[in-house]
Amino acid sequence: MGYDLSMRVWRGDVNGGSLVDYTVPVEEGEVVLDALHRLQATQANDLAIRWNCKAGKCGSCSAEINGRPRLMCMTRLSTFDRNETITVTPLRTFPVIKDLVTDVSYNYEKAKEVPAFAPAPPDPDGKRRMMQEDVERGQEFRKCIECFLCQNVCHVIRDHEENKRAFAGPRFFLRYAELDMHPLDTHDRRELAQSMAGIGMCNITKCCTEVCPENIKITDNAIIPMKERVVDRKYDPLVWLGSKIFRRDQREKLTPEQVRAPRKQTTAGAQSPEPAQ
Ligand code: SF4
Ligand code: SF4
Ligand code: FES
Repeated sequence: MGYDLSMRVWRGDVNGGSLVDYTVPVEEGEVVLDALHRLQATQANDLAIRWNCKAGKCGSCSAEINGRPRLMCMTRLSTFDRNETITVTPLRTFPVIKDLVTDVSYNYEKAKEVPAFAPAPPDPDGKRRMMQEDVERGQEFRKCIECFLCQNVCHVIRDHEENKRAFAGPRFFLRYAELDMHPLDTHDRRELAQSMAGIGMCNITKCCTEVCPENIKITDNAIIPMKERVVDRKYDPLVWLGSKIFRRDQREKLTPEQVRAPRKQTTAGAQSPEPAQ
């Protein structure tokens, strides 16, 4: 059965704005995005909303609903009491363009800084092989829909614009980890993760993991292993020296096929020689 929903929506642009109250008729089973579309169609034709799939897969409709970062298309009205006012505001970490639409280009700039996948040559039979656990790790990380809710909630940049230059954020630590732990990749991203992406500024509060709509274990499965890899490289001279000697020694002993085979470290603590360049 339908009912009248009290909504409070942030309206404004780069010059400022305020919360505006509306009453919107809604139906049972609807989501917050449905209510906003009805509001846009009937009372506020110029309301700016970014959305695309309405299925939780494009990552476009991120906003803060009653102060919590969420996807508007995946937040059912039944989550709230019918008498409750639902307040919708734009993501706080990114500059507002208009109403609920923010400029998330910071994220695309950070994406450009991550070196692309650089696979080793295939095996002599033309195939590439990897362990199932490595496949599954990549599959978890690749569930990311780039909604940037994790970026929005991260306290390192949420109220600290000045940190954005030196901090890539959880979505991109995920990307660094995905590629750096990929057994077929040849590029060592550990130095960049530290110096360019600022992974050392993350203090593992796990707020990013809590808001991820894809339930990716960002902190436990990506950030912590990546931090361990960075520390291994940066602060353990024996690991560094050992990896150099071991790599040279191994290159001298291996057949050409074995030299080509991917041998990068794939999990934290499991060091193996890197592939030949
Ligand atoms: S765990 Fe790190 S990246 Fe995630 S929200 Fe906390 S500080 Fe940010
Ligand atoms: S890691 Fe999760 S919260 Fe972050 S952008 Fe990807 S899907 Fe969104
Ligand atoms: S509209 Fe695509 S995730 Fe919400």
